[in-house]
Amino acid sequence: MSSQAQPEIEIAPDLVAASESAAQRIALAAEEAARLRGRFRIALAGGNTPAGLYARLVHSPYRERLPWDAIDVYFTDERCVAPDDPQSNYGMLRRQLLLQAPIAAANVHRIEAELPPQQAADRYQQELQRSFALGGTELPRFDFILLGMGPDGHTASLFPHTAALNVYDRLVAANHVPQLDTNRITLTVPVLNDAREVTFLVAGQDKAAALQGVLEGAREPERLPSQLIQPRAGRLLWLVDRAAAALLSRSG
Ligand code: 6PG
Repeated sequence: MSSQAQPEIEIAPDLVAASESAAQRIALAAEEAARLRGRFRIALAGGNTPAGLYARLVHSPYRERLPWDAIDVYFTDERCVAPDDPQSNYGMLRRQLLLQAPIAAANVHRIEAELPPQQAADRYQQELQRSFALGGTELPRFDFILLGMGPDGHTASLFPHTAALNVYDRLVAANHVPQLDTNRITLTVPVLNDAREVTFLVAGQDKAAALQGVLEGAREPERLPSQLIQPRAGRLLWLVDRAAAALLSRSG
C-alpha cells in the first residue's frame, strides 16, 4: 500500500488470541453505538476464519455484555446457495451464533442468495435502504464491518479482476467469479468504506503472501482487492495472527 495512511496492525500469537481481541473490539463498538445511537449495525464476513469469533460472542463475558436488543446483523457477502447449504455464510453464522444469541429474527438481515443473483442483490440493497432508512443515493454507515481475506487478496466477494470491484453506483452487487465458476452477492466498495470501523481478521500462513502484498506492496487493487478497503471516515484495523504476518517487514 503506497501513499495511504499507515493502517493499524495488531499481530496476535494465533487465531484464538486474534478472535478474542476481535470480540473485545466488537463489544466496545456495540456498547458505544447502543449508547450514542441506540442501534449497533454490524456486517459479518463468512468463510472459516471468523467461525470461532462468532461462537465466542455468545459465551461469557460477551453474551452478557452485548446489547443484543440493539444489534442488527448483516452480511458482507453470500454465496449463491440456499441458507441450509454447507457453503452458506448465513448457515455458518446461524450454527455459530444465531441459534444461541438472544437476537430477534427481524434484526438478522439475511441475503436471500437462493434467488437469482441480480434479484438477490436488488432485494438485499432494498433491505439496506429500508433498515437504514436511506434516501436516494445515501450509503448505509455500518458501525462495524468484520472482513476476512483470501489467499488471493479478495475480501467479501470482491475477487481479483471481477466486475464488482468497479461497482460504485450500487450498495450491493451480484458478482460473477470466473475463478470459482460461481456467482456471489457482495457489499460494494463504497459501502465497505463508509463504515465507522472495519476490522480484517486474517490468520494462517496461506495468507502471508497476500497480506504482505496488500499492506506493503505496490497498489494493485485489481489484483489485490483488499487494498480497496480504505474507510473514508472510519477506523481500519488488520487483526492478524503471527503466521499470516510472517512476511511483513514489521512482523518483528
Ligand atoms: C466468504 C467470505 C470471504 C472470506 C475469505 C476468507 O464468503 O468466503 O466472506 O471474503 O472472508 O474468503 O475466507 P477464510 O476465512 O475461509 O479463509
